[in-house]
Amino acid sequence: QLGLKTKRLGWNVYYEESVPSTQKIAHKLAHDGAEEGTLVIAEEQTAGRGRLDRSWHSPKGTGIWMSLILRPAIPPQQAPQLTLLAAVAVSQGIQEVTGLVPDIKWPNDILLNGKKAVGILTELQADPDQVHAVIVGIGINVNQTREHFPSELASTATSLALEAGKPVNRAQLVQMILSKFETLYDQYLQHGFSPIKLLWEGYAVTIGKEVVARTLSGTVSGVALGITDTGTLKLRTKDGDIHYIYSADIEIKK
Ligand code: BTN
Repeated sequence: QLGLKTKRLGWNVYYEESVPSTQKIAHKLAHDGAEEGTLVIAEEQTAGRGRLDRSWHSPKGTGIWMSLILRPAIPPQQAPQLTLLAAVAVSQGIQEVTGLVPDIKWPNDILLNGKKAVGILTELQADPDQVHAVIVGIGINVNQTREHFPSELASTATSLALEAGKPVNRAQLVQMILSKFETLYDQYLQHGFSPIKLLWEGYAVTIGKEVVARTLSGTVSGVALGITDTGTLKLRTKDGDIHYIYSADIEIKK
């Protein structure tokens, strides 16, 4: 029913009315040997999960809540590259279908007019030297109206429809994103991360800005210089020290 034009991604689709979390289902399927490209997508999630153990608000019939299983032959250290690849695929898809130009905030938030419209959660099943499966969870606020957002999200979250001023066809957007994803993923497997990195930088709002990075081990402020070849963020503090940030919440200073 999705009318996909991709060759591999999304050929095996589990479409559900209501699930706790597509991410959880995809983990189980991957563990049981599901092939690369398997997609779990739901109309509603009752226990959607975000990064850093947060919950992800996923009301019925409004958004795209999906998890994609990939099986690239890469060491686990390279997996963050796939988060950035996913952010580029979703940004390209949104741009093509709605005309809106998204901003990517490192590592993987997609913003429209400074508010979050998309969250990406990349999780691994891996040994220390080999990835078995990458589960890319993508949550897109598509047709929510203001009333759909709980008050604590009102000032920070938005939907594509709110920004575009009209409803957006979800099936068309899923098709477009998977097709962009497949092209980028093939490029990545053949030529590595460099071409993806360039595209990512084209959408990035973080680079060159004064930022505060809150990590599990503390807070670092400085100028975001760029991303490295593995996808980590390079920061320069005002003392001139260089920090490499693997995972953090980023606040962009005005
Ligand atoms: C974040 O920004 O914190 C990431 C949010 C990821 C949400 C998606 S929705 C589909 C998939 N299933 C989940 O439970 N989470 C991800």
